[in-house]
Amino acid sequence: MLELIDASRHYDVAGRAVRALDGVRELFPAGSITAVVGRSGCGKTTLLRLLAGLTEPSSGEVRRAPSHSVGVVFQEARLMPWLDVAANVAFPLKGRLSDADMAAHVDEALALVSLTEVRRALPVQLSGGMAQRVAIARALAQQPDILLLDEPFSALDAFTRRSLQRVLIDIWRARRPTVVLVTHDVEEAVLLGESVVEMEAGHVVGRVTIDLPFPREATDPAVVDHRRSILARLVGGTDPVTQAIHSGRK
Ligand SMILES: Nc1ncnc2c1ncn2[C@@H]1O[C@H](COP(=O)(O)OP(=O)(O)OP(=O)(O)O)[C@@H](O)[C@H]1O
Ligand SMILES: [Mg+2]
Repeated sequence: MLELIDASRHYDVAGRAVRALDGVRELFPAGSITAVVGRSGCGKTTLLRLLAGLTEPSSGEVRRAPSHSVGVVFQEARLMPWLDVAANVAFPLKGRLSDADMAAHVDEALALVSLTEVRRALPVQLSGGMAQRVAIARALAQQPDILLLDEPFSALDAFTRRSLQRVLIDIWRARRPTVVLVTHDVEEAVLLGESVVEMEAGHVVGRVTIDLPFPREATDPAVVDHRRSILARLVGGTDPVTQAIHSGRK
């Protein structure tokens, strides 16, 4: 169970009220994988932080089974600079697993993101994309019941991104965590989501079921169709620049 019930989060920014999230009612079924899309500033990270319990709602409710463990990949890697790669991945497991189990979880997670060889490197010695993969490994190593991912692949090149998208789907199919994946990339949302939640200005404005088998291909006409119709809804609004760019691409 993972649910927002009329959840709002309002901020006061220099005397101006910002409704980062406004009355969102959304259920994320256990074992499902949901993608959340929307333009910058529409409240995606806020929604994820509420689901993670890192931010309290200003009003409304967040329901999460108390026994469920949560793994989060933040929009930035957030590694501890004084710990090497393996120790960063192991950090959340400390005290929860035996040393042997911890080592096995760390090894498996580093292999999944192809970073076994840099396990003794310090964060400062990594590229941005490598650091982000360590952050992904850190979340995967926890084998959480709920996996919350905030733009996890946006710092990666197209090849690495594609292979990590496949890793995510493989892990989800094997272990069935409840996954919520925030992304700017509508194609990625359609490739990875059983459903896609569309957000605009603090509101959920749509939810589309993507009833296609995994793994999905970006060139599949059904994927292309979904992508096009989600994009048309999200940029079909008031912004003349994005509207012009979008119509130029048709
Ligand atoms: N801690 C905060 N204090 C004040 N305002 C905040 C805070 N966090 C978010 N906001 C505001 O809430 C709104 C939504 O922010 P949020 O980070 O959720 O957007 P986002 O959809 O994740 O954007 P992006 O795609 O750029 O990451 C923005 O207007 C932002 O300025
Ligand atoms: Mg964000």
